[in-house]
Amino acid sequence: MYDRFNRRINYLRVSVTDRCNLRCTYCMPAEGVKLMEHKDILSFEEIVEMIHVAVSVGITKVRITGGEPLVRKGIVSLIEKIAVIEGIEDFGLTTNGILLPVFAADLARAGLHRINVSLDTLDAEKFRSITRGGDIAHVFAGIEAAKAAGLSPVKINCVVRNSSDEPDAQAVREFCLKNDLEARFIHEMSLADGRFTIVENGHGGDCVNCNRLRITANGMIRPCLFNDVQFNARVLGIRAAIEQAVGHKPERGSVNVKDCFHNIGG
Ligand code: 5AD
Ligand code: SF4
Repeated sequence: MYDRFNRRINYLRVSVTDRCNLRCTYCMPAEGVKLMEHKDILSFEEIVEMIHVAVSVGITKVRITGGEPLVRKGIVSLIEKIAVIEGIEDFGLTTNGILLPVFAADLARAGLHRINVSLDTLDAEKFRSITRGGDIAHVFAGIEAAKAAGLSPVKINCVVRNSSDEPDAQAVREFCLKNDLEARFIHEMSLADGRFTIVENGHGGDCVNCNRLRITANGMIRPCLFNDVQFNARVLGIRAAIEQAVGHKPERGSVNVKDCFHNIGG
């Protein structure tokens, strides 16, 4: 699929839940957020059908996101169902890592190719404060479990405030060098203010080369993280919603006041 600006659209990010077991300060307000109603969340059958259709029109790369995808009940069986779809060349998942010690081996067995883990600091206390209560020991154990399971290359997403030279980011960079991990630095973004930059060492935020579509946990096809436009796959039909989203993909991001990271998955 090509959009109006001749960008080839072949990457689909699928949010499977808006729930999360952490409350990162840059992602959610302390009091939490208004969650989607359970009845609005896509079923496994719907998710699989949407990915099927997306692949039939040119998607080759699929990433599962959230919220935190590993809190979705039955996630391993969902991964199994997606992994057998023919035409997916690259199949990844982005997680905060807390539940990876529990799920890494099963995810690999289910057919997931690789994993990205979010880690902004190596300091246990800072981690607890950024995530409002998370235990960094689980993330370290999760990264090891992912490597042992062969979910490689394991990539680390590190959100930085100003630059990747700041001490926490430097420490994460060294940790990655020592442990055979790929580090990517994401400048803290603001959807409502339209503040975003290109991800260092990654692909996000690069409008000229953007190849992405997103599906939210309640079935909206979104052509751009920094834009409010969305097409309801349940109402329009999956194929039509995808075509409309590709047809309306903006040239570059601006602002998005409808979403938060917890429901669109970054
Ligand atoms: N700016 C940049 N990245 C963010 N993420 C969540 N909120 C923000 C934000 N405001 C990142 C997480 C994770 C990915 C899912 O999105 O750190 O790596
Ligand atoms: Fe959860 Fe990720 Fe948001 Fe942190 S950034 S609260 S881990 S969804």
